[in-house]
Amino acid sequence: MCGIVGYIGDQQAYPILIKGLHRLEYRGYDSAGVALISQSGELNVYKEKGKVVALERLCEKTDVTGTIGIAHTRWATHGEPNASNAHPHYSESRSLALVHNGIIENYKVLRLELEKNGVTFRSETDTEVLVQLVEFMMNSHHCDLYTAVQLALKNVVGAYAIAILEKSHPDTLVCARKGSPLIIGVGKSETGRPEYFLGSDATPIIEYTDKVIYLNDEEIAVMDRTGRLEITNLANVKQTPQLVTLQMNLEELEKGGYPHFMLKEIWEQPNALRTCIKGRLDRENSEVVLSGIIDNKEKFQNCRRIIICACGTSWHSALIGKYFIEEACQIPVEVEYASEFRYRNPVIFPDDVVVAVSQSGETADTLAAIQLAKEKGAFLYGICNVIGSSIARATNSGTYLHVGPEIGVASTKAFSGQVITLALLGLAIAKVRGTLDTKFYQMLVDELYQIPDKMQWTLEHNKDIDKFAERFTYCKNFLYLGRGYNYPLALEGALKLKEISYIHAEGYPAAEMKHGPIALVDAEMPVVVIAPKKGMYDKVVSNIQEIKSRSGKIISVVTEGDTVVKGMSDYCFVIPDTRDCFVPLLAVIPLQLLSYYVAIAKGCNVDQPRNLAKSVTVE
Ligand code: G6P
Repeated sequence: MCGIVGYIGDQQAYPILIKGLHRLEYRGYDSAGVALISQSGELNVYKEKGKVVALERLCEKTDVTGTIGIAHTRWATHGEPNASNAHPHYSESRSLALVHNGIIENYKVLRLELEKNGVTFRSETDTEVLVQLVEFMMNSHHCDLYTAVQLALKNVVGAYAIAILEKSHPDTLVCARKGSPLIIGVGKSETGRPEYFLGSDATPIIEYTDKVIYLNDEEIAVMDRTGRLEITNLANVKQTPQLVTLQMNLEELEKGGYPHFMLKEIWEQPNALRTCIKGRLDRENSEVVLSGIIDNKEKFQNCRRIIICACGTSWHSALIGKYFIEEACQIPVEVEYASEFRYRNPVIFPDDVVVAVSQSGETADTLAAIQLAKEKGAFLYGICNVIGSSIARATNSGTYLHVGPEIGVASTKAFSGQVITLALLGLAIAKVRGTLDTKFYQMLVDELYQIPDKMQWTLEHNKDIDKFAERFTYCKNFLYLGRGYNYPLALEGALKLKEISYIHAEGYPAAEMKHGPIALVDAEMPVVVIAPKKGMYDKVVSNIQEIKSRSGKIISVVTEGDTVVKGMSDYCFVIPDTRDCFVPLLAVIPLQLLSYYVAIAKGCNVDQPRNLAKSVTVE
């Protein structure tokens, strides 16, 4: 949800800012803008509707010189996506320019107040209120920018990550955050002089420095060209910055020869999962080593219940995790939409463990859900992909996915990373609670260890989905069915198709089909059935028969060697045999490829689907 980049140093800022915007474009892509203080002292703002390339085109004929600048790529909340609502926003006198990620909840009241004091607005955004308020504070208190930002933010309700330029101080960059992420990169230019970078995440920074500071909530930072970096909180108490070294590889941020990030990330899954389980799944000793569990053994031994909070795809992996943890650990697990949980006064006991599952670690609802759980005294465990993210930092303990940066907006490798991490978590908890028989435990560890190889097999054997995907481009609806562990997978398959090809799709427990969705089935309706030769196979076969007798088209995912379901299917994808509980890790691959190729056949932008953003940092 909106990406912020900033730079101050010896280098020309524009190329750094544009490159950074491209890296952050997954966060929003309806408009983009840049502000620079030129060599002649002008504060220039350029903004354009559309993607970052549109901004670049606009800037071709303009003065983009300057060694200090801020930039923004937007996902509209307040005000339609057009150039005037795009960021950066000028203050009334045009002496300040500001970019913002987040939502100012009391912007209407603030705007009214400012208007009463004669301030004129140029846009419909909540953001413009911020920059006008800062200027108002500067004028009314005769203070510097830093103090004015402090004063202004004390009046603000909502979430923000902001960066501000002041025309008359081209040597100073000010930024602040609350509820939305902001990272400061600390570097040295070729001349050995200090330089600072800003980013909503580390991706715009890693090319220049691996030394970063994660700004905390309600902190304001001021940086200048002499290397001065000061951080205080809203109460003006000085904070000690913690310099952290990033663990990220630049190549992970490139497409690496693939046409889209999504396809690259689908194919990366076997290796990504190998990295995820490395050092954690000890096959020889039949052990799962998760330091987050080992260090908090009693919490997991004694907890009465586990509540998992998540959104979107992460909610689907959480549901698979619930089935596994309940089976392996004999402990009740509830899975909650974070957006519902946070507002419905849920019962949370101090001996509950609340697990947040989030790829980005920045989803506003998930963050709020765990804050609520913290207030009620629960122990918080985070399962995030982005290292140093807000959720990772707000939880008591946790496990990173280590699947590498996920850039495609539709989640793929993070989903499988979450499912396997939740399986590791289940096995680790089962060990401390002693709920699994040693032989069975060993067999699960052994099987989990083979999953990356089996994923590779699945990818190799389902390469030709592209050959028939075009046949589905005319479809208006899809139905996805699965039972047991494959019901959440049916939800995920449907979501993937919906997100990137804009075809309506619904996931359903196969047996529930009779209670409604069957009414929709006709010759035009493809029904994707996840039908591995496992526990409820015969029942799923009956469900397929019910669809076929209503002329529905069957697309099935079957175990290698299956002839029965294959014979009943119009299209069939194969996966290798595995335990029931691990089928989703393999069956997800053909579902991801199906959605990818249908979207490509429809000419959709798979990496940046309309109206979506990868990181939802607003409610
Ligand atoms: C957005 C993304 C989804 C993601 C969801 C939750 O909707 O487009 O891919 O599953 O947010 O994000 P999180 O980062 O918390 O997993």
